[in-house]
Amino acid sequence: MKRREIFAGNWKMYTTLSEALALIEGIIKGLGDIANREIVVFPPAVHAREVVKACGNKIAVGLQNMYFEKEGAFTGEISPLMVKDVGARFILIGHSERRHVFGETDEMINRKIHAALDVGLEPMVCVGELISEREAGNSEKVVETQLKAALAGVARDQMNKVVIAYEPVWAIGTGKVATPEIAESMHQSIRNVLKALYGAEIATTVPVLYGGSVKPENIKGLFSQENIDGVLVGGASLTAKSFLDIIHVQ
Ligand code: 13P
Repeated sequence: MKRREIFAGNWKMYTTLSEALALIEGIIKGLGDIANREIVVFPPAVHAREVVKACGNKIAVGLQNMYFEKEGAFTGEISPLMVKDVGARFILIGHSERRHVFGETDEMINRKIHAALDVGLEPMVCVGELISEREAGNSEKVVETQLKAALAGVARDQMNKVVIAYEPVWAIGTGKVATPEIAESMHQSIRNVLKALYGAEIATTVPVLYGGSVKPENIKGLFSQENIDGVLVGGASLTAKSFLDIIHVQ
C-alpha cells in the first residue's frame, strides 16, 4: 500500500521575516528531485502571506494554530477563514506545546479540527504521551484517548484531509528521539484506533508522521519503518541544510 509521504517543518516561534524568506530560498534551491514527497512548512502566522508567495507550488504552507470560531471578539486569535485566506493549506492542531504550555483540551482540539475541515483546511493532528505516561505503561491508551477525542464526529469521507502526527512529548526538543521500534509500534497502534473508528481502508491510507528530535542522523531508521510516512521536524527544520538532508532520506 503506497501512502502519501510528508516532510513537514514546524518553525514554532522562530524566524524574523527575512530569516523565514532566506530559509525558504535555501530549501527551494536544494530541493532537487523529490519524486512524490510532499513538503510542508509551518511558519509564524505573521509571515504567512510572504512565505506562501515564496513557496510557489513546490512547498505547501500551514499555520501552527487557529481558533475554532468563525469570527468575533477574540483578541489575539486567528480564524479558520483567515488561515485559508492567507493561502495556507494545512493547520497544525493539538501540538504538544499548545496542549501543555497553553492548556488546550481535547475538546478544543476537536472543535478546531471540525472548524478546519469546514473551511477546507487540512488538519495535521498531533498526539503524544508524557514521559510519566510512558513510564506508567499508558502510552497507547493516552494516544488512543487523544485520537478518539480529536476525531469525534469527523466523518469517514473527511478523513482523506486529515494527517496524524505522533509526537511523544518527551522527545520534543530534548534530543531524545524515539527509537524506530517505539515509533513504529505506536504508529501501528494509531492505525488500529483508526481501523476501529473508520475501517481498514482509512486506517491504511491516512498518513501518520513522527515528530520529536528528528535529525539528519536519525531519519533513516525512522523513515524505513512500514508505518512511518514522514516526519514533523522542529529544530532541524530551521536550517535549510538539515531540513534538506531529512527530506532527501533514501
Ligand atoms: P523538535 O524536532 O525540535 O524536537 O520538535 C518537534 C516538534 O515539536 C515538531 O512539531
